[in-house]
Amino acid sequence: MDKSSARTLRISTLALAMALLGCSSREPAVPAASTKISWGNTPEGQPVELYTLTNAKGSEARIMTYGGVVVSLKVPDRSGALGDVVAGFDNLEGYLTPPPYFGAIIGRYGNRIGGGRFSLRGKEYMLAKNNGANHLHGGMRGFDKRVWSAKPLSPQSLELSYLSKDGEEAYPGNLSATVTYTLTDAHELRIEYSATTDKETVVNLTNHSYFNLAGEGDILGHQVMIQADRFTPVDKGLIPTGVLKSVAGTPFDFRMAKTIGERIEQKDEQLIFGQGYDHNWVLNRTGSGLETAAKVTDPKSGRVMEVLTTEPGLQFYTGNFLDGTLQGKGRVYTRRSAFCMETQHFPDSPNKPAFPPTVLKPGDTYRTTTVYRFSTI
Ligand code: BGC
Repeated sequence: MDKSSARTLRISTLALAMALLGCSSREPAVPAASTKISWGNTPEGQPVELYTLTNAKGSEARIMTYGGVVVSLKVPDRSGALGDVVAGFDNLEGYLTPPPYFGAIIGRYGNRIGGGRFSLRGKEYMLAKNNGANHLHGGMRGFDKRVWSAKPLSPQSLELSYLSKDGEEAYPGNLSATVTYTLTDAHELRIEYSATTDKETVVNLTNHSYFNLAGEGDILGHQVMIQADRFTPVDKGLIPTGVLKSVAGTPFDFRMAKTIGERIEQKDEQLIFGQGYDHNWVLNRTGSGLETAAKVTDPKSGRVMEVLTTEPGLQFYTGNFLDGTLQGKGRVYTRRSAFCMETQHFPDSPNKPAFPPTVLKPGDTYRTTTVYRFSTI
């Protein structure tokens, strides 16, 4: 064989090998399975794993089995450069200290239950008061502080499950919960929640990722649109009063995009109670499917995040209680350096009969879906 035919053969063999591996020279290789590494042990000695999901365009989500936490989420900016848009820590230890719930699955009940109590079928349940006089995010050791069992479904999808025993954190019923994270090729992090119980209980699952679309600085220049005509005003302890109030003429009107910083310091009683935005919006819904709840744009990086959900509510929290004491990934988490968009049923629903119900009965399946979709302008 002469030199040039040998070269042609080498090139075509390489091309064939790349085709078989599903690679092209322009696109990053897709791994054959979601990769997994061990990420240390909990103080009780339970091993924790960290999974990496990668889509065909190179976006990447890292999820650990402790708390089902989204540890990092890398998506492109307008120039195509990948950047991590969620707050988090460099190692498991960072997540074991008292929580701001970075990236975690929240359960059995997301957000607050007033007075740490509720009644079901005439029986009163007394929960931990871990937030002043109220119960927050499932109590002393909610779903964010449990090790979930993982089952990779594909290189882009991971199923996590957790059995919350009858009486755990004083909630009734063995609740079997499953959360599936999927990173799609459309740069969407899709989260599907499901749960069943053997005794009547309450359930409200969400994810507590703290986003910063620039990956640095504060979030006051991010533009936010929330598809809601009403929100649920709160008392000083951040428990809804029960009223569904119109956002018209208030700093809570995000029906047209506004920057987070534009009205956040107004002398509005609700903003004072929350020390900024820390409220539940009543989403305008037309049906029971996946509908757009919010859209956030960072003019600097060009990144856009749309939130779609089947849920009736959205807790928009502007990191008011971050105070610079937490650090991770080379960042200092100062006040308002990240925001949360927690899709959910309304806070304190177990004590608010007029709110959409959060009761789950044996034989029924709790099912909700939320999608965080990333693009650029
Ligand atoms: C709550 C905030 C709380 C934060 C972190 C949010 O869901 O509404 O009040 O500070 O979670 O715990």
